[in-house]
Amino acid sequence: MADLVEKSKKLSAYAAVDDNLLSTHRVIGIGSGSTVVYVAERVGQASNKSDLVCVPTGFQSRQLIIDNGLRLGSTEEYPEIDIAFDGADEIDTNLGLIKGGGACLFQEKLVAACSKQLVVVADYRKDTGVLGKGWRKGVPIEVVPAAYTKVSLDLAKLGGKPVVRSGLPAKAGPVVTDNGNFIIDCDFGEIPPAQVAELNAKIKALVGVVETGLFVGLASKAYIGNADGTITKKT
Ligand code: 5RP
Repeated sequence: MADLVEKSKKLSAYAAVDDNLLSTHRVIGIGSGSTVVYVAERVGQASNKSDLVCVPTGFQSRQLIIDNGLRLGSTEEYPEIDIAFDGADEIDTNLGLIKGGGACLFQEKLVAACSKQLVVVADYRKDTGVLGKGWRKGVPIEVVPAAYTKVSLDLAKLGGKPVVRSGLPAKAGPVVTDNGNFIIDCDFGEIPPAQVAELNAKIKALVGVVETGLFVGLASKAYIGNADGTITKKT
């Protein structure tokens, strides 16, 4: 099972890079997570790799860029990115996403918003059709530390079940993001594709919320690696 999942991650990542990384692309966004490891590996094998600049979405992603001999850039230097590749925790039928399993959602959304296209790479477990159906419950929400109790109350009023994400071991206290903030995982149950944008707007409007892990209208394509070795491409 673990082996099948790993193979499907590599399959989706390699196919996404091979199909979408064009010789005209110069600035590439590199997302976060275990599937993106294979994206960075494949981009690092490109014949024109010395012409590319890669913009990371967090500490892990920065390290992947360096480890694969690629040139690092930033959103400050490159606010216009040709194409970004990133993973997802869940994907719905409108290419709406839940992201932030690795607590990098703010920089992931920033890079996605700077990119002309966002190509999602994922194994078959992420293709849930409806957000909120996955094994990893909740929408990750990045909050300013001083506001986490207030935002938790607000999220409960919106019908969610908020839990502040803790580190391992749990006694280590809340997870702190690359931006010095906390993550609240808030379970809203299943979120029908037509209601994702509205829920995202309501959460974003709460004072103390930096960004949400609901990605609406940002992904242009998704490459799902299947257990049988095939790929499902979604647009
Ligand atoms: C990190 C993310 C990741 O892209 C998402 O959690 C998917 O990760 P993986 O490829 O390891 O399943 O959003 O914040």
